[in-house]
Amino acid sequence: MANIKFFSGKTTPIEMHRVRIIQKLNLPTIDERLEAMKRAGNNTFLLKNADVFLDMLTDSGVNAMSNDQQAAMMQADDSYAGSATFYRLEKALRHVFGMEYFLPAHQGRACEHVIAKALVKKGQMVPMNYHFTTSKAHITELGGEILEIPVKDAFNTTSTCPFKGNMDIAALKQVIAELGRDGIAYVRMEAGTNLIGGQPFSLQNLQEVSSLCRANGIPLIQDVSLLSDNLYFIKQREAACKDMSIHEIALAMAAASDIIYFSGRKLGFARGGGICTGNKQFYLDIRGYIPLYEGFLTYGGMSVREMEALAVGLYETLDEDVVSQGPQFIEYMTNELIKHNVPVVTPPGGLGCHVNAREFLPHISQTQYTAGALASALYITSGVRGMERGTMSEQRNEDGTEPLAHMELVRLALPRRVFTMSQIVYTVDRLNWLYQNRYLVGGLKWLDEPKILRFFYGTLEATGDWQQKLVAKFKADFGDSL
Ligand code: F0G
Repeated sequence: MANIKFFSGKTTPIEMHRVRIIQKLNLPTIDERLEAMKRAGNNTFLLKNADVFLDMLTDSGVNAMSNDQQAAMMQADDSYAGSATFYRLEKALRHVFGMEYFLPAHQGRACEHVIAKALVKKGQMVPMNYHFTTSKAHITELGGEILEIPVKDAFNTTSTCPFKGNMDIAALKQVIAELGRDGIAYVRMEAGTNLIGGQPFSLQNLQEVSSLCRANGIPLIQDVSLLSDNLYFIKQREAACKDMSIHEIALAMAAASDIIYFSGRKLGFARGGGICTGNKQFYLDIRGYIPLYEGFLTYGGMSVREMEALAVGLYETLDEDVVSQGPQFIEYMTNELIKHNVPVVTPPGGLGCHVNAREFLPHISQTQYTAGALASALYITSGVRGMERGTMSEQRNEDGTEPLAHMELVRLALPRRVFTMSQIVYTVDRLNWLYQNRYLVGGLKWLDEPKILRFFYGTLEATGDWQQKLVAKFKADFGDSL
């Protein structure tokens, strides 16, 4: 973000864009919100968008496009094979990452699917800084296993460690010594590590992982879906990189990896996905799966209009004003919440602000879904839709017991370029009120619990009448205010 100092000494981040197309929002009354939450089975995934005021569920596929991206969509070249759009996107990726080969796929998990198909053999291990749900699923589906070896600060919710997404190098050395080249399919590093709170790794750590992998002939694969946040944090927090441009950092990250892949729903302000590599053999190994599962090699399941927008969005990602907007808003929101003693994950990461539900609601056990209860209570209180990232998002063990999540978080994602500062201020205000009234909040229990990916579409109910009591207190404090 531009270096703008305030005469008052305040440090409020400023949007370096203006809004030229808007979507009207609706804030239902608190009675309507309670009804909507009940209809949704206390699962924020099941809320209708029409009932949501500020949608902080995810940053996936909902980042705001620029006027240049919209203009580019008009020149999309529709053809099954050889579309000019493909070559424009390929050129953008070559520019950003300096890698020769590009394979398109319809979204991030599709990249994970074809990469795992090509590289994972039954019984092989994939060491990683931390898993993402879909990346883990595709590896285990093929009989592989994952091994998470982040630095020990990764699960420390209140930390000053600037790079909680780093991999533990000693642990990687040990696993390579134990399993050898053949026991390891590849090593995976995830930029802006999603499930630990959008936390970055450092360029130095990535390069150390890379050297170890190269010395042992093990491929290093980087998930760069959340690249833009990680680029910003490297520039801000890693002294050795402070004079590098965002583009130089992106090139150095790519140069350390054998294959990179991304969700275009996160990176590039559009939708889609892709795999890049500088290694012809990897390209050939993966290529055959694209026409089989995704689409022909020049679109891979993406719409050409989205591909045009993605190409422009990738160039925009090299602009420091652009990549800094999300992390600076998240930092502001996190610091404001800290001022009100609301427990949040620190240091602030990318993607969104993460509220620590176990500390927020210490009286609710994880078996009553602490983070799920908080997400439900927050929607009723504010119309803000967050995402549960805790025990509800886990899957039961074979014997029916409940594996308790490492952390109980409510993620308040800030899709890039979407929210204004006053909307952040409102969310902080309502969270502050909810924290003051936290002992009114109770737990949840399942009404309908699907076996697979239950968090997406399972329904729950409140234990007791705590939601009615919360609504009554809200009305007592706010009168007829929304
Ligand atoms: N990798 C990371 C780090 C992700 O965060 C995601 C998606 C994917 C891969 C899969 O990409 O959705 O395009 O298939 N994260 C979304 C989220 C779903 O809400 O955090 P996809």
